Amino acid sequence: MSLTRSESWKNLKQHAKEIKGTHLRDLMQDGKRCKAMCVESDGILLDYSRQNASQETTAALLALAQETGLKKKIKAMVSGKKINNTENRAVLHTALRADAKAVVKVDGKNVIPDVHAVLKDIRAFSNKVRSGKWLGATGKTLKDVVAIGIGGSYLGPEFISEALRTDKACARAASGRRVRFLANVDPIDVSRNLEDFDPETTLVVVISKTFTTSETMLNAKTIRAWITKKLGKEAVAKHVVAVSTNHEAVADFGIDPKNVFGFWDWVGGRYSVCSAVGILPLALQYGYKNIDVFLAGARAMDDHFATAPLGKNIPVLLGLYGVWNSSFLGRKTRALLPYCQALLKLAPHIQQVDMESNGKGVDVDGKALGFDAGEVDFGEPGTNGQHSFYQLMHQGQVVPADFIGFKKSQQPIKVAGHPVSNHDELMANFFAQPDALAFGKTAAEVAAQGIEADVVPHKVFPGNRPSNVLLIDELNAYSCGQLLALYEHRTAVQGFIWNLNSFDQMGVELGKVLAKQVVSQLADSRKKKAPITGFNPSTTALLKKYLDA
Ligand code: F6P
Repeated sequence: MSLTRSESWKNLKQHAKEIKGTHLRDLMQDGKRCKAMCVESDGILLDYSRQNASQETTAALLALAQETGLKKKIKAMVSGKKINNTENRAVLHTALRADAKAVVKVDGKNVIPDVHAVLKDIRAFSNKVRSGKWLGATGKTLKDVVAIGIGGSYLGPEFISEALRTDKACARAASGRRVRFLANVDPIDVSRNLEDFDPETTLVVVISKTFTTSETMLNAKTIRAWITKKLGKEAVAKHVVAVSTNHEAVADFGIDPKNVFGFWDWVGGRYSVCSAVGILPLALQYGYKNIDVFLAGARAMDDHFATAPLGKNIPVLLGLYGVWNSSFLGRKTRALLPYCQALLKLAPHIQQVDMESNGKGVDVDGKALGFDAGEVDFGEPGTNGQHSFYQLMHQGQVVPADFIGFKKSQQPIKVAGHPVSNHDELMANFFAQPDALAFGKTAAEVAAQGIEADVVPHKVFPGNRPSNVLLIDELNAYSCGQLLALYEHRTAVQGFIWNLNSFDQMGVELGKVLAKQVVSQLADSRKKKAPITGFNPSTTALLKKYLDA
């Protein structure tokens, strides 16, 4: 039976009509409701009382979870079933951070020993580089790293790297070292990455699951040329290593097979942070010990996800309310608002995790969904976002938001004479904004302030705008791991409910094919003055203009 015809879906459709007649200003008066809509686990508090919802809504969403077999689907994922049906692959990013004693089988083979063998290699290699046992071609310590990769081979590692940069333990371990991430095929990105780096002291990590991604391959060739120009061809063995599943292509590129850190086809690109994709560059920068703590945080969230009852399960609740806002209340956008500058790259990473996973039009069997799945995710650290797009959120469109804040700052400061610490000042905004969105301000309240009648409507805040509040103890390697896994699982929950395949990404292919056609046209036109053929009139004219410049 199609999802939209199921009892629980129809029930939620009906329930949404009732909820549309309520206002958060009233719902939030009910202390019992507010208490019931809070869950706490392992240093993370989720308060979802500012959803346009009653306790009945949660019950109805849990009924949908039951009817769509959410629990079974979660179990199928973590136990290695080939739930990526279009590519006939298991989806096992949870195995990447599983305990060494765990047993998870794919095609009858336990994958955990291989996972831990690669982690052991990363630990040994990163220790050698960091301690100066592994030196560059001219005998210098490799204190800088350029990690080349794009999409899932870039966004997650950069998000975690930025999040740990100002953590005290990680900052200490990174002292004297630098890591940069080169993703865009734009030569400007190359030049920004190489700024004041020296080939003699630089280690290059080429990260690509397929080792065919055109942006990464061109960037890798560019950086290899930068290395060999100064140090000669032999330097590649000391200065360039790779992370890939395609060992043959890595060898063809000229990288010593001993210096390849592998992973497996059951790790999706955007879910690969805990494979060598993220762990190698992060361990080089912050030391393996700290990154092991990060893996432990992700593992703890995996355990919570796999074992907590659905109604107390933080990623499940986030996912269910994602479905509620998108499919039943018609909210097509969603904001991710960390009140923590170290999380400045969280939103770009979650954009890929979520939009590449759930931005689909058909279900697992290829049938049209009949509703819009997925949301447009965006975000910015508070308070910067407040001075940018919050205007639209308060008085324009309704954008469900996740506010993420921490009880303690990574870098506490207190200025003499200021009534509160700088972190308190930040967090005051964190506590104020969800209420401003939920409660708003009525025309009567505005008028009572003596505002001129014609200005009153401009100062009215409709309120009734939903958000989740996530209050976390502190941002460190452990909670970074939790946060990463939390959002990975939220995406999976929504995909499971919507009955689509969250683990392929066919939608990125067409553009890549057309770009290849343009590349060969540009090459022919530049070299042999070949006329432009095979494009529509608009693209033909644009290419002409471009080539004439
Ligand atoms: O953007 C499409 C994509 O296939 C992503 O899913 C992936 O993360 C990225 O390209 C990079 O792929 P690779 O790691 O194979 O270079």
